[in-house]
Amino acid sequence: MLSLMRVLALESSCDESAVAILDEEAGLLAHELFSQVDLHRAYGGVVPELASRDHVRRLLPLIRTVLDKASIAPAEIQGVAYTAGPGLIGALLTGAALARSLAFAWGVPSIGVHHLEGHLLAPLLEPDPPPFPHVALLVSGGHTLLIEVSGIGRYRTLGASRDDAAGEAFDKTAKLLGLPYPGGPQLAELAAHGRAGAFTFPRPMLDRPGLEFSFSGLKTAVLHALAGRTLSAALRADVARGVEDAIVDTLIAKALRALEDTDLAVLVVSGGVSANRTLRTRLAAAVGARGARVYYPRIEFSTDNAAMIAVAGLARLKAGEHDTLAIAARAQWPLESLAPVST
Ligand code: KG4
Ligand code: ZN
Repeated sequence: MLSLMRVLALESSCDESAVAILDEEAGLLAHELFSQVDLHRAYGGVVPELASRDHVRRLLPLIRTVLDKASIAPAEIQGVAYTAGPGLIGALLTGAALARSLAFAWGVPSIGVHHLEGHLLAPLLEPDPPPFPHVALLVSGGHTLLIEVSGIGRYRTLGASRDDAAGEAFDKTAKLLGLPYPGGPQLAELAAHGRAGAFTFPRPMLDRPGLEFSFSGLKTAVLHALAGRTLSAALRADVARGVEDAIVDTLIAKALRALEDTDLAVLVVSGGVSANRTLRTRLAAAVGARGARVYYPRIEFSTDNAAMIAVAGLARLKAGEHDTLAIAARAQWPLESLAPVST
């Protein structure tokens, strides 16, 4: 086993350039993030080529800032972690090329991290981390997954979305309401002013057994609700509330079902949508009522960040895993293909 102390981590899988330094003993020393939201807003979504080019511009200055803030010299870094997939291939390759070059120059190992493993392990950064085994509800812009997590690298998918991810459903319905990209957080803000029950949208697959999700029907339901009406502020807020309630109800019902099916009493909720306040409040009540406990990353580590990549990278480097010199990234990468890490 490697006596590894400190890792530098890069995240560049989509539209956030992020860098962090994690010390095995002292914890997170520094972390920085640059969001490309302003760059992509005019296009209503992420433009992959623009994302890659901006990562190239941002990552090196961010690394300098993080090293400065942590008062760490490159010689004091013992490993480099980076997101190797899944994500936008060009964006991933900018981080992979930089991480592997730095590791080569510094004479330390590098490790390509699975982005979703980063999300799953983000709550380990908190003072009261979740115990294993647990059920994880991973809800992001690209994924909606229920996973049985028996340890680091020990993942069994219990259910997934058949179509749109929960975050995607937030973003797409937000677009229909005229909200700028990325719509999820703004739809949530709008929903706070809406009336519960003014619109009741479908909660797909709740009436059937199983842990699958389907969110693509929400767009059509919202389109029908808006048809022929003037888009007043009150109407938009009511529709937003209806959408948020439908997504949150569905996520909670399936998460509770997963706890029941696995006979586990610990739920971890991570990924961008776990930043949603309504989801957090309602889940706390629902899970608490069953004598179970729910854990989250802090809000800033719910959405994409490099601290979570550092956690996963540190665990894997310590277990002796590392990359070859080849620069590689994977747009698709099954979570279950990861090697278990003994802890
Ligand atoms: O994990 P993440 O930062 O990126 C991916 O790996 O996809 O998740 C981003 C997603 C977006 O769809 C965004 O709209 C959604 O998370 N999101 C939210 C909230 N904050 C972020 N959705 C609902 N309510 C929020 N507060
Ligand atoms: Zn993510």
